[in-house]
Amino acid sequence: MRVLLVGSGGREHALAWALAQSDNCAALYCAPGNAGIESCAECVDIAFDDVEALRDFAKDNQIDLVVIGPEAPLVKGLADLLQAENIKAFGPSAAAAQLEGSKGFMKDLCAKYDIPTAGYGRFSSLDEATEFIKQQAPRVVVKADGLAAGKGVIIAESHEEAIAAAEDMLSGNSFGEAGAEIVIEEFLDGEELSYFALADGKTMMPFTSAQDHKRAFDGDKGPNTGGMGAYSPAHMMTPELEEKILKRLIEPTMAAMAAEGCPFTGVLFAGIMVVDNEPLLIEYNARFGDPECQVMMARLQSDLLQILDAAAQGSLADLNEPVRFGEDPAMCVVMAANGYPASYEKNTVIKGVENTLDVEDLTVFHAGTARSASGDLVNVGGRVLGVTASGKDLHEARGKCYRAIDIIEWPDGFCRSDIGWRALKAAEEAG
Ligand code: AMP
Ligand code: GLY
Repeated sequence: MRVLLVGSGGREHALAWALAQSDNCAALYCAPGNAGIESCAECVDIAFDDVEALRDFAKDNQIDLVVIGPEAPLVKGLADLLQAENIKAFGPSAAAAQLEGSKGFMKDLCAKYDIPTAGYGRFSSLDEATEFIKQQAPRVVVKADGLAAGKGVIIAESHEEAIAAAEDMLSGNSFGEAGAEIVIEEFLDGEELSYFALADGKTMMPFTSAQDHKRAFDGDKGPNTGGMGAYSPAHMMTPELEEKILKRLIEPTMAAMAAEGCPFTGVLFAGIMVVDNEPLLIEYNARFGDPECQVMMARLQSDLLQILDAAAQGSLADLNEPVRFGEDPAMCVVMAANGYPASYEKNTVIKGVENTLDVEDLTVFHAGTARSASGDLVNVGGRVLGVTASGKDLHEARGKCYRAIDIIEWPDGFCRSDIGWRALKAAEEAG
């Protein structure tokens, strides 16, 4: 098969790395890719959200399958454009990507089909939002309806703070168009985890769980980021909880999307709050998580190309076994440019990545990297490397990640030193 992968992050490097291992992968292109992806795919200079140019490339190069990494091209209808050309796409149509693209759409769907989630209201008028906030508990969550790069969520500690956040969003100050409509939600107090399931429009196939760390600094402090590290599986996951997630959240959502005329194809990434052992949906994403994808690919044993192709062509039911993952858990520690998620320097030189080859079961996935004219590895983005390892337990995986980080020489970067702390603490307490 000839495959085009869309995106340039750590998620896409992990996908490229796994796809390239398939015997069935005759050619792998990545648009636009990064300096790490170059080692397993041919990078093509097309922006990840230039959907017409991506469609044209796929047509001109006899691509059999397009794997769409990020949400922006999904919401812009890349899967629809490819379908019109009879090119298979792993990723939902624009209509189905609304599960991620509009928080109001997701909440209304949950309400209509009894999918457990936080109570909410949708508003485009500040007066009505203010009225609603005053009737809630002091702690409420205010969300921009549209895509805001993971930053459109404010957990307000008081009504004043919530009203100020609502005003900021609705005026267009904080998130532009994405905030023209908002969702105000009840605050859920529990433990968070992420669950991933594949879908082909008709059939659902369980994938696995992961947990990420969204805050920039140790102790889950500091500003929200795209994710500073992750591990898989999530330490709270049990067969009973997985069953509840599949039966109460994922399967009803798949059925609801089909009933609404927009069946979901691709990967459904559920952000879940576990309250008293019951899973409640926080949000859906219509793509793999980053860095959750890195740790899931490190654990995956099945042929990724075969699975994604089956999802794209509606034949998941024909796969003769469930997706297989290794016993060993995996961890990813993200190295980011100093200053991230606010402003940071670009083109700083990173050395020593090749010296990490001696560390067992370790892969350094690249995100915002490029080669300078003189051949140095430099950063061109905020999140730059995803140092990923598996081990017999999370403690061992962690040791490998931080050993590799000690080898990498990048004075202009930083990482969190406590990735996996909740899981490691729970393991310690369990003896
Ligand atoms: P989202 O972008 O919807 O995933 O929200 C970002 C983060 O905000 C989530 O990962 C949660 O930690 C938190 N969050 C979102 N909604 C709620 C809620 N209703 N209650 C508590 N925390 C929430
Ligand atoms: N790491 C969170 C996300 O990909 O949305």
